[in-house]
Amino acid sequence: MKKKYSKQTKLIQSDFNRSNFNETSEALFLTSGFIYRSAEEAEQCFLEKKKKFMYSRFSNPTIETFEKKMAELEGAESCLATSTGMSAVFSIFMSQLKSGDRLVSSKALFGSCHYIITKILPNFGINVVMVDGHDNDKWKEALKVKTKLVFFETPSNPCLDLVDIKSVSNMAHKVGAKVIVDNVFATPINQKPLELGADIIMYSATKHIDGQGRVLGGAILGKKKLCEEIIKPFIRNTGPSISPFNAWLLSKSLDTLELRINQQNINTKKVVNFLEAQNSIESLIYPWSKNFSQIRLAKKQMNNGGSIISFRLKKKNNLSEKKTAFDFINKLKIIKISNNLGDCKSLVTHPYTTTHQKLEKNEKRSLRITQNLIRLSIGLESSEDLIDDIKQAL
Ligand SMILES: Cc1ncc(COP(=O)(O)O)c(C=O)c1O
Repeated sequence: MKKKYSKQTKLIQSDFNRSNFNETSEALFLTSGFIYRSAEEAEQCFLEKKKKFMYSRFSNPTIETFEKKMAELEGAESCLATSTGMSAVFSIFMSQLKSGDRLVSSKALFGSCHYIITKILPNFGINVVMVDGHDNDKWKEALKVKTKLVFFETPSNPCLDLVDIKSVSNMAHKVGAKVIVDNVFATPINQKPLELGADIIMYSATKHIDGQGRVLGGAILGKKKLCEEIIKPFIRNTGPSISPFNAWLLSKSLDTLELRINQQNINTKKVVNFLEAQNSIESLIYPWSKNFSQIRLAKKQMNNGGSIISFRLKKKNNLSEKKTAFDFINKLKIIKISNNLGDCKSLVTHPYTTTHQKLEKNEKRSLRITQNLIRLSIGLESSEDLIDDIKQAL
């Protein structure tokens, strides 16, 4: 499609792999393999002398459609879809790191990312250094020596710590490191790390990209050479490939992503305003709240504060911090208890006992994941109903 159209128009109307039947909705090629016309053609394909869909672990027209749409949305040269967000993270790491390499990461990470970095990578002889991601001086200190990869989430799960994408990317590039950003909490609408200097971004498409809590998926975006020549062969041969059905569904979800995120942003701001006025809240964390400790950075690198809020409840007299949190969570009627996020259904999580349970006590303490911490993912219900629900639970 011609360049003059907006991204949203191109995302919806571009001719991504339309078949000979001229379907309006993108076709679903639910097939594991593709037929070769002759033994010679199969040979040529495996010699990589002929390009054609061969086997869905390598590529598939429906998966390619999702990848093309994601790349369009991000303005990235290339996109690789994966089965989950975690397989995206693992593929990015394992395709590039080898024994003796160094990876620097922020400490504030989703539990499974933390597990890969602290428990799996060291087994392969990879040197791992973890820093307080919100502190540029800590990055400066850690990025004085040759480093292969830098990895961080911003905002982080669950305490919404921010990393200065531009500054850290500059520091990382000086020591030869590639910068990977987990952009899950921000979404492709609220933050554009590739424009700020990151080399690779990844998504758990399970979250806002699906946005309707149906399927798992992941996406890796970045420069063509890195994606096609380094990461893709790893995915092709090790198999964290996405199902064509999931890719089809995620592709359809992308058409409404901007609309959904914009409304979720609006709903979230209303809930933030309500919560900030409540006496029972000890502290609230939201990137675009005037009280947020990194508000200047949040306004600089994010287009909006997003749909995730974390807050701590004041301990009730007769209850422990954990029981105070559980009491609130159990009293919610509309907002459902789940470890997922980014859904159009509002969801509540107690990170201490669920998503971050496996972290050591002192790690939780240093990341400020306390027993009274609640994470809310705001959806697309009426904000008045959500506020009433929270009010009665408080
Ligand atoms: C920030 C972040 N990164 C990665 C993931 C992993 O995604 P998935 O569950 O699709 O593997 C999650 C999932 O909760 C997440 O919150």
